[in-house]
Amino acid sequence: MTEPSHLAATRAAYDDMADRYAEFIKTDLVDKPLDRGMLAAFVELVGTGPVADLGCGTGRLTAYLNSEGVSAFGVDLSPGMVAEARRLYPGLRFDVGSLTGSKLEDGSLDGVLAWYSIIYTPPELLADVFAEFHRVLAPGGHVALAFKAGDERRRIRRPDRRKVTFDEYLLEPGHVAELMADAGLRVTARLVREPGAGEEEPQAYLLAEKR
Ligand SMILES: C[S@@+](CC[C@H](N)C(=O)[O-])C[C@H]1O[C@@H](n2cnc3c(N)ncnc32)[C@H](O)[C@@H]1O
Repeated sequence: MTEPSHLAATRAAYDDMADRYAEFIKTDLVDKPLDRGMLAAFVELVGTGPVADLGCGTGRLTAYLNSEGVSAFGVDLSPGMVAEARRLYPGLRFDVGSLTGSKLEDGSLDGVLAWYSIIYTPPELLADVFAEFHRVLAPGGHVALAFKAGDERRRIRRPDRRKVTFDEYLLEPGHVAELMADAGLRVTARLVREPGAGEEEPQAYLLAEKR
């Protein structure tokens, strides 16, 4: 089966920035108490796991979950990001895979974390992503999502290095909640906060539970 073109573009973009990403994201949560609050709620909801951090990047949140007593592993599209995650957190498990092609067993997880990783998937393909989250979760399992709120496609051009071009999507929280509900994921909490330092748009966070 041919791979959708957005995956190749996103993979190339993150492979390109993999060696700088952990440093770039290092202080991201410091001034974001609401984001930390949603993550803390997710930790309480999932207990000891297991949890998949899908689109884990360089693994900071996989590491956070494990530090809170949650058995978590990371999956990412970009081999470069996975290599960095393995280098930074050698005791943890990181696999190369996609949001819809992680090869995880049906009903095998108590939680799925997708923190700013659905934002590169064209909105018309998100139903497939949520169907996959539903498939891999056990009944009563939880999803936590973070994304940029809005209704827009942005073409990102990177003038440095290899002139990487890829798309990111701002998503309307109500629409995302509807898609999740359609997939059998009942939204239990939604937060939209105003842009903080360095952010251009409101940020959205959803928690949902598999019925
Ligand atoms: C903005 S970064 C966030 C990384 C991490 N969640 C964090 O908060 O530090 C987005 C990550 O999602 C990954 N990603 C994007 N689309 C993906 C997909 N369809 N499947 C798996 N990973 C994906 C990218 O490779 C990248 O590492």
